[in-house]
Amino acid sequence: MNDLQPIVDAAQAAFAQAATPAELENAKAQFLGKSGRMTELMKGMAALSVEEKKTRGAAINLAKQAIEAALNAARQAMADAELAAQLQAEALDVTLPGRQRGQGGLHPVSLAQERIEAIFGSMGFDVAQGPEIEADWFNFTALNTPEDHPARSMHDTFYVEGGSATAPNLLRTHTSPMQIRYAVQHVKKYRALAGDSGEGLFGGAMPEIRVIAPGRTYRVDSDATHSPMFHQVEGLWVGENISFKDLKSVYLNFITTFFETDALQLRFRPSYFPFTEPSAEIDIMFESGPLKGRWLEVSGSGQVHPQVIRNMGLDPERYIGFAFGSGIDRLAMLRYGVNDLRLFFDGDVRFLSQFQN
Ligand code: PHE
Repeated sequence: MNDLQPIVDAAQAAFAQAATPAELENAKAQFLGKSGRMTELMKGMAALSVEEKKTRGAAINLAKQAIEAALNAARQAMADAELAAQLQAEALDVTLPGRQRGQGGLHPVSLAQERIEAIFGSMGFDVAQGPEIEADWFNFTALNTPEDHPARSMHDTFYVEGGSATAPNLLRTHTSPMQIRYAVQHVKKYRALAGDSGEGLFGGAMPEIRVIAPGRTYRVDSDATHSPMFHQVEGLWVGENISFKDLKSVYLNFITTFFETDALQLRFRPSYFPFTEPSAEIDIMFESGPLKGRWLEVSGSGQVHPQVIRNMGLDPERYIGFAFGSGIDRLAMLRYGVNDLRLFFDGDVRFLSQFQN
């Protein structure tokens, strides 16, 4: 019927074949462009009569509209396909579980230390921090351990350059220097407050000395149960009438609260420290659980030596008290059932993230 339909068909086929927008625009030029086939047909109308122009023109217009419609459909299809591909590529699976924000946590030794501070805090103990680089005087001499004392060899440590007997020169081997540091400050403070010459401090304005001092300590020592850096907590209670009886009740209260059980026993085993007299190791034994029936050493302790009381600035005829020094890492190992101390210091998150309180 007409010579135009094949052209429309050819245009549709060309548009359908175009794989890219550029190819599509090329195909469009072939049919609708300046020298495209439709344009050529229009030009060919010049020779026709007015009547013929009318019918021919209308037919060409119809064909042109059909081609333009085909072009628009092809453009639309191309845009749809592009959008679909993009959506596919950027697909978001909203059914996946959300990513959790990494939550930090405290190290088990820190958790144990926080427990210790809370428990002694509830018994009226102050919590004090002291320097890890310590002077010979505080670490040894003031604690009744003069330079030639054999106990020093058990406390072999790391020395730093530039110190002296009274200026920081070593890594502290225990938290006991805090006994002296805290007591001296305490006495000074209340002596100044009371304008007191030193008499009747406790009878007057000065409260008893009751403190714990947790922190890092150092010794030249390293195996499955010893690390060159470890943690201790010092305890000190000095007043006018403080005895071993108080030490026992305080320590028993502490240890049963720390382990959340009354099913354990406490034992004082005679020992020796230069700064306490008499001295004792404190052992505990669980009456149930995996550690049942074994005596475990958890602390050194004793009645503060008169010379140490003197070095605190107090009169040993009048003031008396007890001190203890416990291993925090050891307590943490027992509480959490850890059998190798080194696990605490390897920094493996799989191990560390198991402990919550
Ligand atoms: N400082 C001692 C140690 O590290 C422990 C201790 C502290 C003993 C207080 C008695 C009194 O071994």
